[in-house]
Amino acid sequence: MASSTGQPTSTSSSVRTVRRGSSRPTHVSAATERGVVAFLGVDDAVAVTSGTAALHTALLAAKVGPGDEVIVPSMTFCATVQAILSVGATPRFIEINPATLCVDHQLVLEAVTAATAAVMPVLFGGRAVDLGPIHSELDERGIAVIEDAAHAFGSSNGTRHVGATGTLTCFSFGPVKNLTCGQGGMVIPRTPQEADVIRRTRLLGVVPSQDERANTTNYRVEGFGLRYQLSALNAAIGLVQLDGFQAAAHTRRHLWRTYREALAPLDRVTLVDVDVDHAVPHLCQIRVPHRDEVFASLRRRDIGVGVHYPPNHLQPAFAAWHRCLPATERAGEEILSLPFHQHLTETDIDRVVNSLEQALTSVRGS
Ligand SMILES: Cc1ncc(COP(=O)(O)O)c(C=O)c1O
Repeated sequence: MASSTGQPTSTSSSVRTVRRGSSRPTHVSAATERGVVAFLGVDDAVAVTSGTAALHTALLAAKVGPGDEVIVPSMTFCATVQAILSVGATPRFIEINPATLCVDHQLVLEAVTAATAAVMPVLFGGRAVDLGPIHSELDERGIAVIEDAAHAFGSSNGTRHVGATGTLTCFSFGPVKNLTCGQGGMVIPRTPQEADVIRRTRLLGVVPSQDERANTTNYRVEGFGLRYQLSALNAAIGLVQLDGFQAAAHTRRHLWRTYREALAPLDRVTLVDVDVDHAVPHLCQIRVPHRDEVFASLRRRDIGVGVHYPPNHLQPAFAAWHRCLPATERAGEEILSLPFHQHLTETDIDRVVNSLEQALTSVRGS
């Protein structure tokens, strides 16, 4: 059934349960927002179409714009960089700690310039990044921290969930993420004002919201906006996935530890450390010599390996912001993502690790 706005008001039993005090159903994405709010223990969460939209709207909410520099690791998905460019700001690429593929507070501090408006740490593979030691210094300089937590839904930073530390945080709920909506994203704003900006931006700049508009004949377009609302269909998927999230998180940790144990005897393989006791792992990444040959050999054995990610400072689109980043470039040549998701079995992991061993032997012998 569709409302007069063309938005579905009821698509499934989950949607039908989404009702306010009155009998009028609210948009199901509001229920998914409330589910995330309850899970994280935060005041608010704003659902959008993707992790990229979350990063874009978070940058707008933090008032980052033309002339501003944003500190970002080159080792991230290109979406992080495109979001920075989409607000007219420029990326300042920095190095990562080779053991974790994440930035640390020293690397961030060294990169701060007079033009820095924000820092975007990427919580690589699900690992939290603690910029606590430099928070007050960044605050004093008016530098916002906007976490790209696309990989890290459910992970913890110390004793608090990522997203619940008071930092502007962006999640992706894409198809292979820790929590999926099929396609979706969420911003955890720092203030009600930031939440308002993101809610208005995701609705083409229109206020009031669709739910509030039900009884009025007019609306106002108050500013810039895009079509960034999370669809009811995607929101409903997320709502159901949230119910099973703790079990999925437990399985992901267990499978990551199983990989760790199985990989330990392989002397030329280094596991990228996700801090599994605090993280909900999104990736299981290793570093290997002759990565391209090992990759090809595993693909021939029908093992679905990948590379997350080719460094961004080497991409043609971002050449204007190239810097010399040797640790990132070396990582870019060695990293290999092993198949990883909560539906793997221990037998699957045995097969992957045996195939990896064979691939390393054949590469060494060639
Ligand atoms: C680190 C990182 N940032 C941002 C994104 C963008 O998220 P989405 O694909 O939901 O737009 C992704 C997606 O894979 C990602 O891995």
